[in-house]
Amino acid sequence: MDMVRHRKALGACVVATVMAATLACANAAEAVQMGSAGSGEAIALEICSDCHVASDRQVRVGVVGLPSFRSLANDPAVTEIWFRTYMRTPHFEMPNYVLTDEQLDDVWAYIHSLKE
Ligand code: HEC
Repeated sequence: MDMVRHRKALGACVVATVMAATLACANAAEAVQMGSAGSGEAIALEICSDCHVASDRQVRVGVVGLPSFRSLANDPAVTEIWFRTYMRTPHFEMPNYVLTDEQLDDVWAYIHSLKE
């Protein structure tokens, strides 16, 4: 008599382990700081000092009649929102700089640091 071997096939149950997507948060350190006055001054000296008295350390003389950054810093009308809007709006006389958001943060941090 044949021995009937009852083979019980075990269905292989493949468990797909879905790993939670690991999001590299490269900008974590950046988000903490709202702009660096040091690099803001460097940007101001490099770009803005062509026309404005952007820093006491600058060699160039600003265009007559333009506000110095020190006077901007101490003008109560020059709020952060006003400044950001101004810098992001086209002007006829002032060239439109394509500053990155980070550079804009830095320049504002710098101007703000001149407030007395
Ligand atoms: C090529 C010359 C030139 C350069 C470079 C320049 N500006 Fe100006 N800026 C002007 C002129 C001209 C005005 C005034 C007329 C106008 O608003 O267009 C002005 C006005 C401003 C005002 C408004 C002042 C007020 O009280 O209305 C701000 C703020 C300002 N500039 C910031 C900057 C910053 C920040 C930079 C550098 C990223 C910069 N400017 C570079 C020419 C320049």
